[in-house]
Amino acid sequence: MLNYESAERILSEYGQKHILRYYNELSDEEKQKLLSQIELVDFSVLSSLNDMDDVHSERGNFEPLGAVTIEEIDRNREKFTEAGISAIKEGKMAAVLLAGGQGTRLGFDKPKGMFNIGVQRELYIFECLINNLMDVVKQSGAWVPLYIMTSEKNNRDTVEFFAEKNYFGYNKDYVKFFIQDMAPSADYSGKILMESKSEISMSPNGNGGWFSSMVRAGLLNEIKSNGIEWINVFAVDNVLQRIADPSFLGAVLLSGCESGGKVVSKADPDERVGVLCLENGMPSIVEYYEMTEEMRTRREPDGRLSYNYGVILNYIFNVDKLEKIVDDKMPIHVVEKKIPYMNEGGELVNPENPNGYKFETLVLDMVHMQDSCLSYEVVRDREFAPVKNAEGVDSVVTARELLKKNGVKL
Ligand code: UTP
Repeated sequence: MLNYESAERILSEYGQKHILRYYNELSDEEKQKLLSQIELVDFSVLSSLNDMDDVHSERGNFEPLGAVTIEEIDRNREKFTEAGISAIKEGKMAAVLLAGGQGTRLGFDKPKGMFNIGVQRELYIFECLINNLMDVVKQSGAWVPLYIMTSEKNNRDTVEFFAEKNYFGYNKDYVKFFIQDMAPSADYSGKILMESKSEISMSPNGNGGWFSSMVRAGLLNEIKSNGIEWINVFAVDNVLQRIADPSFLGAVLLSGCESGGKVVSKADPDERVGVLCLENGMPSIVEYYEMTEEMRTRREPDGRLSYNYGVILNYIFNVDKLEKIVDDKMPIHVVEKKIPYMNEGGELVNPENPNGYKFETLVLDMVHMQDSCLSYEVVRDREFAPVKNAEGVDSVVTARELLKKNGVKL
């Protein structure tokens, strides 16, 4: 266990001695708590503040990547679905729900999945997702193992909610929860924020660490011994999401690709969405702000945009490959967020506007660690209704409209 002197040494190395400012006021128990937190925190993430632009400037040469288009999928749907269904029946596919985020933009104080998107009746986001997955269970006659990633901040609420709602009819033997890792957050001058006099403010460390967190939670053995070969990773906030989609899985299997990503055609060249493409010949996602004007507007002979296929955070990865890359370092993204913190007066403040940085790894960077990725186009209005904000773009309002359009009773 770290003692005060060693803690002070570590902190001064990183310019963070303010963390010990109230040490002498703390009870013995609080002192121990703070020292053990200091011991566990990875302060090296702070160095990302010095090279905030490097994540992008280190990028290689981008080239467009085509997709299996909606038309091609329609022509091959039977073949794809059959291949997918038989793999699901054999228990080769599991789904991982990324629900460790804090959903700050929505401004809802519970886990995002507990948000009631219903109007005349209760319909929770988690419920929408389970209903969507149930379609596949019905179609295949097999339960798809579902792993739910939470964070230390929302695990308890999430687990209790699922139990209270009886897993929305899902077979609870096939549902497992695991907790993702945390990272410190810093103010704009790079000083780590405190939550109280004895606690460093910690936040979930992004969705990129989902597989390493699963391994740390001891789930790899069960995955391997149950013969799970493919994992469909998806975000909590897309209420129209098709999960463990047999046709998508079948297309990936038949393509021989190591992974797959669901994409939608961009609505216009300037849409703010990451695009699945090639970077130095390897699959990769280029963010909208990384694209030059030429890249954004370039078109193929058939008139489609060359960088046309936006990702919707729904990927299929191969377990063997994931195991090989699990210890590889992922780039750290510095993200501006609203972070509750303790002010000079020692009071906890919930800021109205972003007030600092969180450090996150992102699942999209995993795509670049793959030898190949099948870009699989889906119909936007049928499969993409993200709930990011309370109103406006990608909001509760737009998601409700899309749910209605797809025949979901609200
Ligand atoms: P977002 O990028 O929308 O982040 O997450 P967020 O933290 O939930 O929301 P804001 O930005 O604060 O409003 C995309 C998906 O990744 C999950 C989220 O739960 C969501 O499904 N996620 C995000 C995690 O599982 N862990 C994280 O640390 C961050």
